[in-house]
Amino acid sequence: MSALLELRAVSRRFGGLKAVDDVTLDIAAGEIIGLIGPNGAGKTTLINVVTSVHPASEGTVTFDGRDITALRPYQIARLGLARTFQIVQPFPKMTVLENVAAGALFAGRAASVADALSSAREHLDFTGLSAIAHKPAASLTLAQRKRLEMAKGLAMQPRLLMLDEVNAGLNASEIDEALAMIRRIAERGVTILIVEHLMRVVLSVSQRIVVLHHGQLIADGEPQAVLRDRAVIEAYLGSKYAALHAGGGT
Ligand SMILES: Nc1ncnc2c1ncn2[C@@H]1O[C@H](COP(=O)(O)OP(=O)(O)OP(=O)(O)O)[C@@H](O)[C@H]1O
Ligand SMILES: [Mg+2]
Repeated sequence: MSALLELRAVSRRFGGLKAVDDVTLDIAAGEIIGLIGPNGAGKTTLINVVTSVHPASEGTVTFDGRDITALRPYQIARLGLARTFQIVQPFPKMTVLENVAAGALFAGRAASVADALSSAREHLDFTGLSAIAHKPAASLTLAQRKRLEMAKGLAMQPRLLMLDEVNAGLNASEIDEALAMIRRIAERGVTILIVEHLMRVVLSVSQRIVVLHHGQLIADGEPQAVLRDRAVIEAYLGSKYAALHAGGGT
């Protein structure tokens, strides 16, 4: 069985810097994968490569058996691949509802604006944003903007959703709500790649964890095995964290 998303020897250069360096990775349909690594490791760039925001300099990206390496972002969205942005960037003057409807239109998931607005209402309901549907996006709190990013992604009706630090800056109860939402999205059959610095979050949802360091994939496997991996401890987790969690606890 072939994977839903396949990266083959994918690299992305910015001038002399290889932000993503020779990454080969398969994601199967239905998986929830955590992508971790230090600041600047290339996690966001990997998402940008897959969605063609910054297309691969080398290598190929295949989605559902189709080579998407050279497609445009909107074409990739239409195939069922959505992402959130780490730096949230809603259209500030548009309302929350209109921003989500724009997501549906971008991914070709609505036949008309009316259609897009009606589907947007469903996603606002799902993400708990209905009460602020008519507020301009610029007036939202950070937590609400992160939620709005999720709603926009969902309005694209993706088969694979890539979440880039959707919990950064949120408080503990907001994180718990976001986690519950991620689980409900997965229950709908959406494959999820989650980039996250909070290990509590990564471990509570991921079935598999992949680790990037200096653009290279240094580990890929079952969460507890990745936590114990020496290269991962040295590059990211730190020996303190490893000592604390030795024996398989989280
Ligand atoms: N558009 C760009 N132009 C030039 N360099 C870039 C660009 N985007 C990313 N980089 C560089 O590529 C490297 C990887 O950055 P990236 O944002 O992918 O890391 P990250 O793992 O997402 O980090 P963080 O955890 O801080 O979000 C960094 O050195 C960054 O400065
Ligand atoms: Mg990033």
